[in-house]
Amino acid sequence: KSKGGKADGMINSVSSGAKDSGTGLTVLSEKKLFLGQKLTVIQGDIVSVTADAIVHPTNATFYMGGEVGQSLEKTGGKEFQQEVQDLLKNQGQLDTAGAAICPGHRFPARFVVHCNGPTWSASNAQQLLEKTVKNCLTLADEKNLRSLAFPSIGSGRGGFPKQTAAQIILKAINNYFVTVMSSSLKQIYFVLYDMESIGVYTSELAKLDS
Ligand code: APR
Repeated sequence: KSKGGKADGMINSVSSGAKDSGTGLTVLSEKKLFLGQKLTVIQGDIVSVTADAIVHPTNATFYMGGEVGQSLEKTGGKEFQQEVQDLLKNQGQLDTAGAAICPGHRFPARFVVHCNGPTWSASNAQQLLEKTVKNCLTLADEKNLRSLAFPSIGSGRGGFPKQTAAQIILKAINNYFVTVMSSSLKQIYFVLYDMESIGVYTSELAKLDS
């Protein structure tokens, strides 16, 4: 099976159905980034991912009404909801494309990085999504985290086309490590959940293989 396909340098290996040793979730692809980090695209529920932090796409006031937010709220329960309230009280509202971090509860990730990502109807939606991803990575580095898991920010309640969101997020992750001098991050997960995202991603990978 060909492993050499490249879409502007984004993807260099395809492993069908293998489980990631860290998360137990199905691996769709894996590649090494510029500074040696591993970028693993996995299929599953981000709330069950074991990583130092998972990313929650939200609005300026940390609203948990997005799709990932609903899962986090339900699984994290009262303790996690209290953390989010404290965060808003202590740090105030999130800037556009801004990120803030709080502890997690009742799910494997130690922290949650909340980000105020754009909706598809925003002007400059694509640039803002790129900036949002960069700000999440910068914050994770400031906190010395080793692993971070992203959902497909923007493509649920935010209304981005699934493929557009995935492409922008992967590009932004790649670019981040090309531009920073060093990073505490060693492992990045990109977690796809809905069948449409998994389908478009898998078919892009299949094109590279043929
Ligand atoms: N794990 C991983 N991904 C998931 C999960 C899950 N448990 N549940 C849903 N998803 C996927 C969705 O299919 C979508 O592709 O995560 C992606 C992002 O969806 P949302 O969480 O809705 O995030 P977003 O589209 O950025 O919308 C956030 O919701 O909080 C409100 O108004 C606020 O603008 C903000 C919006």
